[in-house]
Amino acid sequence: MASKDGAVLKVKDMCKNFGVTVALDHVNFELKAGEVRGLIGENGSGKSTVSSIAAGMQKATSGEMFYLGKPWAPSSALEAQQNGICMIVQEAGTIPGIPVADNIFLGHEKLFCKGPFVNHAKMVKAAQELLDDLGIEIDASVRTERLDLQQCKLVEIAKAMYWKPKILVVDETTTALSQVGRTLLYKLMRKMADEGGSVMFISHDLDEMMEHCDAVTVLRDGNIIGSLNKDEFDGNKMKEMMVGREVSGNYYRNDQDPCGEEVTLKAHCITTRKDLLCFDLELHKGEILGIGGLSECGMHTVGKALFGYEKILDGKVTVGQKNVVVKDPETAIANGMAYTSKDRDHESVGLAGSIRDNISSTGYKINRLFGPIISFRKEKKFVQDQINGLELKCASQYHGVNTLSGGNKQKVVFGKWIGADADVLILDCPTRGIDIGVKASMYQLFYKMKQEGRSIVLISEELPELIGMSDRILIMKDGQVVHEALRKDNPTEHDLINYMI
Ligand SMILES: Nc1ncnc2c1ncn2[C@@H]1O[C@H](COP(=O)(O)OP(=O)(O)OP(=O)(O)O)[C@@H](O)[C@H]1O
Ligand SMILES: [Mg+2]
Repeated sequence: MASKDGAVLKVKDMCKNFGVTVALDHVNFELKAGEVRGLIGENGSGKSTVSSIAAGMQKATSGEMFYLGKPWAPSSALEAQQNGICMIVQEAGTIPGIPVADNIFLGHEKLFCKGPFVNHAKMVKAAQELLDDLGIEIDASVRTERLDLQQCKLVEIAKAMYWKPKILVVDETTTALSQVGRTLLYKLMRKMADEGGSVMFISHDLDEMMEHCDAVTVLRDGNIIGSLNKDEFDGNKMKEMMVGREVSGNYYRNDQDPCGEEVTLKAHCITTRKDLLCFDLELHKGEILGIGGLSECGMHTVGKALFGYEKILDGKVTVGQKNVVVKDPETAIANGMAYTSKDRDHESVGLAGSIRDNISSTGYKINRLFGPIISFRKEKKFVQDQINGLELKCASQYHGVNTLSGGNKQKVVFGKWIGADADVLILDCPTRGIDIGVKASMYQLFYKMKQEGRSIVLISEELPELIGMSDRILIMKDGQVVHEALRKDNPTEHDLINYMI
C-alpha cells in the first residue's frame, strides 16, 4: 500500500560513490502510485544508478529508501522482483545460449520443479502464454542468441511483467525498439499506471517524455534539480534544467548544400541470407544518406552488408574511386570506411577493455612511430582528444568501458571512428542513448564531415533525425527501397510513415 501522501517509493539522502566518482549526491526522490514518472538528465547524471539501486541491482553508499511505507534495502534484483520492483536495464539484459523461456524465468526455476527436476516443457508453455498475452510474437523455445536487439528487449519486458510489478523501471529501452515495440511498451506503461502501479521511465527523447509521462524529475551530476508536472512541461525548460544553461533552437542542419557527383560507395544488387534481395544503393561524396523504416525492413542488415560484416550471397559492394570490393570489415577499414552498430555492447565496444584500448583500436596507423611500434605519447593524445571533443564523462582514459554510463559508452564507439579519419561512415542509430547536448555537437560534426567531402549512411529509427540531417532518405520495407525523398522537397514525418507501414 502506498503511504498516506501517495508515495510508493521514497529515496532519502542517497549517495553513491564509485571510487572518486560521485554518481549520486544526496538524492531525495519520490515516486507516486498511478504515475509514469520520467527521469531525465545528461549522460552520466545518475539516472541508471538511482533506479538500479531501487531495483536491488547495486547498493547505495549511504541513504535510505522506503517502499510501500516500509524501509527498503533489497539485497538482489531477485528480491526486488519478488517484491514487485522490476527493471528493464539499459544494457543487454538477456543471456545468450539458453532459450527465451529460461531467460524469462532465470533464478525462478523452482516454479517449475518437481523434486530436483525442472519441467522445461511447462516453463516454455508458461513463457509462451505470457508472451502471447502481451502481444509479443516470439517463440519461447527459441535460443536467445537467435533474437535481435529489439526482440531481446521485448523478452526483458515480458520477464518484468510476469511479476506483475508495482514499480516498473524502463531504462532507455525505447531506442532499442522499433515503432511497433514502442507502442506496445507505451500501452503497457499506461495500463500499469491506470491500474495503480508506477513507472520510472528513462529516455533522452524529450518529446517522448512529454507525451507519455505524468511528471518528470531532472538529474544533473548526481543531484536532483527539480520536477515538472505535465501541465508545466516545456522542452526548453527541461533542457535548461538538464544542462544548467539555456539551450534552445533547432540542432539539425538548415542548409541545402549540394553533394558531389562522385560515387564513394555502391551496393550492386546485393543479396544476403536474410532481409536483402538484389538491393542497390549509391552513396555520393559529401552526401548524408538517411535510411529509415520499421524494424523488420532490413535497414540494419544494409549497414552490416555495406561494411562486409554480413555475408553477401550474390552481388557486391564497392568503395572509392578504384571500386575496391568490400569483402570483409578488414577491407572496409583499409579503404577508409567506418561502422557503428546499433547493438553497441555486442558489436561495437570491447566491454572488457579500457576506454583507451577501445578508442585507440582504430588509430594504429596514425599513432605508429615506425614499424609495428606505437608512440605511447601520440596514442594518449589521440584518445584524450576524442574524450575532450565528445565530452566523454570518465575518471580517466584507463578506466574500463564497463564502468561508463550508457551514453558515454556510445561516445567511445563514435570517438574511435572520428579519430580514425574515415571517409565513408556507416552509422546505425549513432545517437542512441546520447543526451541532447552531445547530440547537437554530433549533428554539427556530421555536417562538418559532409562539408569536408566525407560520406555518411545514417540508419535511424528517429524520423526527425533523418529528416533534419539527410540529403536524401531511403525508406525501406521488406528489404526493398519503397521511397526516396530528397532534402529539397522538405519531406514530413507523415509522408515517410505512410511509406513505412
Ligand atoms: N560500475 C561503475 N563503476 C564506476 N563508475 C560508474 C559505474 N556505474 C556508473 N558509474 C558512473 O556513475 C555516473 C552515473 O552513471 P549512470 O549510469 O547512473 O548515468 P546515466 O544518467 O544513466 O547516464 P546515461 O544517460 O548515459 O545512461 C557516471 O559518471 C558513471 O561513469
Ligand atoms: Mg543510464
